[in-house]
Amino acid sequence: MKTSSGVVTSLLLRLDPRISTPLHEQIFEGVRLRILRGELAPGWRLPSSRQLATELDVARSTVLQALDALAAEGYIVTRAGASTRVAPELPIAPEDRPRSHAAHKSRGPRLARSARARKAAPVGAPRLGAAPRAFRPGVPALDLFPAALWGRTVMRVHTRASTGLLDGGDPLGHAPLREAIANHVSASRGVRCTAEQVFVTSGTQQAFDEILGLSLDPGDAVWVEDPGYPGVRRAVLAAGGLPVPVPVDADGLDVGAGVARAPRARGAVVAPSHQYPLGATLSLARRMALLKWAERTRSVIIEDDYDSEFRHRGRPLTALQGLDETGCVVYVGTFSKSMFPGLRLGFFVAPPPLVDAFAAARAAFPAPASALEQAALAVFIEEGHFARHLRRMRVAYRERGEALLEALRADCAGALTPRACDTGMQLTASLAAPLSDQRVRDEAARRGVEVAALSDYASGRHREGGLVFGFGCVRPEALREGTRTLARALEAAREFGTIRPMARRP
Ligand SMILES: Cc1ncc(COP(=O)(O)O)c(C=O)c1O
Repeated sequence: MKTSSGVVTSLLLRLDPRISTPLHEQIFEGVRLRILRGELAPGWRLPSSRQLATELDVARSTVLQALDALAAEGYIVTRAGASTRVAPELPIAPEDRPRSHAAHKSRGPRLARSARARKAAPVGAPRLGAAPRAFRPGVPALDLFPAALWGRTVMRVHTRASTGLLDGGDPLGHAPLREAIANHVSASRGVRCTAEQVFVTSGTQQAFDEILGLSLDPGDAVWVEDPGYPGVRRAVLAAGGLPVPVPVDADGLDVGAGVARAPRARGAVVAPSHQYPLGATLSLARRMALLKWAERTRSVIIEDDYDSEFRHRGRPLTALQGLDETGCVVYVGTFSKSMFPGLRLGFFVAPPPLVDAFAAARAAFPAPASALEQAALAVFIEEGHFARHLRRMRVAYRERGEALLEALRADCAGALTPRACDTGMQLTASLAAPLSDQRVRDEAARRGVEVAALSDYASGRHREGGLVFGFGCVRPEALREGTRTLARALEAAREFGTIRPMARRP
């Protein structure tokens, strides 16, 4: 039987009369491959040559030519007066047969050590579903994003696009966007820079990759926050470096512990304004100690300033970069939180001594992102829409954070101790009983609620259990439902039993 797409359902062959390969060879190759892949089993009865000719819409002699060749090579068996069948034993060994991608056993070309290390690295909190829901961390209030206004800005830029914009764009980033970013971070984050120091990226990960790629030699140690953002660890491994977990406490990264563990590390990746996921702020004493260490060892400090624009009350804290007198801090920003993650735009601010090296590394590459989207974002910032959106989000996150805190205290009292937060869109809670936070996470997921386990973010042996709640994407009306469901998940986890707390490292 022949379908409208020309496929013969009995043999599933597709012939193409437009190519130069003769039709009998196409039939031969099609049947041969299906036999080798095991799709036509040994002993399977082929349709008659007449039937095949009709189905394939070719002369019978063409089919007979193909069948003769298949029989000659031992793929099929034809007997006068009997049907034609796939040979009970194939002419080649099973290991030489072509395999589907999934069934491929060969190990392929050898991977670099850094690629193998990356494959083994933890990926952090699992993503449970496509649509954001309570309480997925790291997702902004997409329901409050001024999508229509953004859409009009994009349309305006697209319809008036100059040939320069359509041509591809600058490898360093669209100049007006670099200017707009420099003005914005100087005014709102206390970053000291000019537009020449700003490099546009497709997000934080690209920034990490470029900075570490330029700073590390194979095997170099880099301090990473523990617990911390898993993307940092992955980027260090990808650059061939060695991530050294450094504990975080209420004052942020423990700089003294970093010096004790890896005094000659070539870099440190920190989120000083709002550590992820614990939310700590790096104290002034530690900021100064970190800068002094970097100056003394000529190490690079990568400042991940992913969501500190969202200080719920008062002015956002100023960036570590603003205190840097010797040019060792590379400031990294992203529009994933302040606009929306799908925009895929971010940036880094290189210290003056490194600007030329970064520019040279970029010279061989195309623009880091769509020039049109970059131009639209520049207009959005210049016309004041971005600053207005940030102001509205600060209020929204304050309200959502306070509502979550209240809901957790009401529904999960006794089981959880949530920590109040004054910045961003996530908060953490410790578990009152020694339960496995991963079990609580799984029990919650089974009931449709997404929380992250604090231990998913830990890389050293220090694995304090707890939960991480994102409230950015949670509408207030969905909060209570989420916390009530979580209370049931905590109950179920408790029924499963408690664990002995992990020993802390001395
Ligand atoms: C600590 C931290 N840094 C940076 C980012 C942003 O990454 P990107 O700019 O690649 O979207 C995230 C996102 O969740 C984050 O949690």
